[in-house]
Amino acid sequence: MNEQIVILDFGSQYTQVIARRVRECRVYSTILPFHTPAAKIDALAPSGLILSGGPSSVYEPEAPLPDPAIFNLDIPILGICYGVQLLGHFLGGKVEPGQKREYGKGTLTVCDPACVLFRKLPTQLQVWNSHGDKLTRLPKGFRPVATSDNAPFAAIEHRARKFFGLQFHPEVAHTPRGKEILSNFVHEVCGCGRDWTMRHYVDQAVEEIRARVGKEHVILGLSGGVDSSVAAALIHKAIGSQLTAIFVNNGLLRAREPEVVREVFGRNFHVKLQYEDATRLFLSRLKGVVEPEKKRKIIGRTFIEVFEAATKRAGKARFLAQGTLYPDVIESVPIAGNPAALIKSHHNVGGLPKRMKFELVEPLRCLFKDEVRQLGKELGLPDEIVWRQPFPGPGLAVRCLGEVTAEKLKVLRRADAIVVEEMKACGLYYKTWQTFAVLLPVRSVGVQGDERTYDWTLAIRAVESQDGMTADWVKLPYDLLEKISLRITNEVKGLNRVVFDLTSKPPGTIEWE
Ligand code: XMP
Repeated sequence: MNEQIVILDFGSQYTQVIARRVRECRVYSTILPFHTPAAKIDALAPSGLILSGGPSSVYEPEAPLPDPAIFNLDIPILGICYGVQLLGHFLGGKVEPGQKREYGKGTLTVCDPACVLFRKLPTQLQVWNSHGDKLTRLPKGFRPVATSDNAPFAAIEHRARKFFGLQFHPEVAHTPRGKEILSNFVHEVCGCGRDWTMRHYVDQAVEEIRARVGKEHVILGLSGGVDSSVAAALIHKAIGSQLTAIFVNNGLLRAREPEVVREVFGRNFHVKLQYEDATRLFLSRLKGVVEPEKKRKIIGRTFIEVFEAATKRAGKARFLAQGTLYPDVIESVPIAGNPAALIKSHHNVGGLPKRMKFELVEPLRCLFKDEVRQLGKELGLPDEIVWRQPFPGPGLAVRCLGEVTAEKLKVLRRADAIVVEEMKACGLYYKTWQTFAVLLPVRSVGVQGDERTYDWTLAIRAVESQDGMTADWVKLPYDLLEKISLRITNEVKGLNRVVFDLTSKPPGTIEWE
């Protein structure tokens, strides 16, 4: 079992960020709900425990409280924000509403530089606060080790028990040296090594997959996206030809996508690749359909139908592999006022029907997205796949407004390829969350050469985002926009006008349909 830090989640929007920071220190971390029994935590033999922040007040009747026995597990504990108030509440201190709420940037003054948490750090630190309540009386055996303008107990310690509390958030980027504080906790206080690396993970996962699968066969739906690609490469490393990857070309992919997948997985990795070209079927089902939701439903249903038939042709397999990630499996804590609870993608609907009786293999279940990319690199996947931008399941159909036809798709694909090419050429492509072209069902008059034209309009969309839930449009340089526009109107027949989308999300969505 990996050495690990357990994080109890009290509903903070930053709980996952804490887990990622700990893993960046090369220590494995697990998030558990706040009410997890102490015995269950003990069974995992963690090296330390972190109590997350949260939107509640410890003195409210409905406040989420941990099993009090966690304080007797004899392991180091770090309470962050609400977590420090829990230390106060359970160990004999006092928590009260602050006179002044403390939000945003603050300055921390370390008054005891001997405190291990602040080892090798300056005595003045920029920190980020987000709390109303604060400790007004220290719990028994604790001492203040740092103060802020508004909190005399901004950091506290019980040296003998190795319990620490931080009123500010060390996990967020606005606390620039926060990662070093967390590193001091996990390495210096908890004594963890630095074993959580993707190289180590590959060995471990390969062994686990082999043990689980034995001599059976595994089927995987390969979309060409980061998650399914990394899962395919990893499982292939473990079981070779016992894996069949099914790649469905729905005719709604971008330029060269099917070729890249076949090149990378078929020719380079020698994965047994079952290529299903269902272009005609998808396009015939979409004929005459204009309404966005209808388009999405047809594509979703057709995909299942095609995939199911393909699995039958693939032969007998006991397992189905999926690229499920850690954020999908963390048991979320339904606490009132927790915005993280509301952030759920409306896109990840359904999955495959229950009648498809497979056992699941999910080798990325404990990884965050950035770790999946590292793993992809470790496995030798090209940047084109590892750093691929998100691409919607219904593909170009939601970027080809109105009715989808083969002719319009051809125009869109060529224009989109120019956008991507120019963005890559100036080094901006991988710096944006998504940059793509949208074909509008609008014809306008133009003049090309001496000829009057009456052609389609193309919109360019470039957005910056952390998670796709909100997004800002990117202010692309004018000379780049000019180059893209010129190339498109010169090189793509059927387009005579290019516009730039200046809408953020909200009020817009990232995709146009
Ligand atoms: P919207 O358009 O809702 O998109 O702002 C947010 C993010 O989700 C992607 N997206 C999808 N992803 N299946 C997916 O896997 C879908 O049906 C789908 N629709 C939108 C979109 O590209 C953006 O990153």
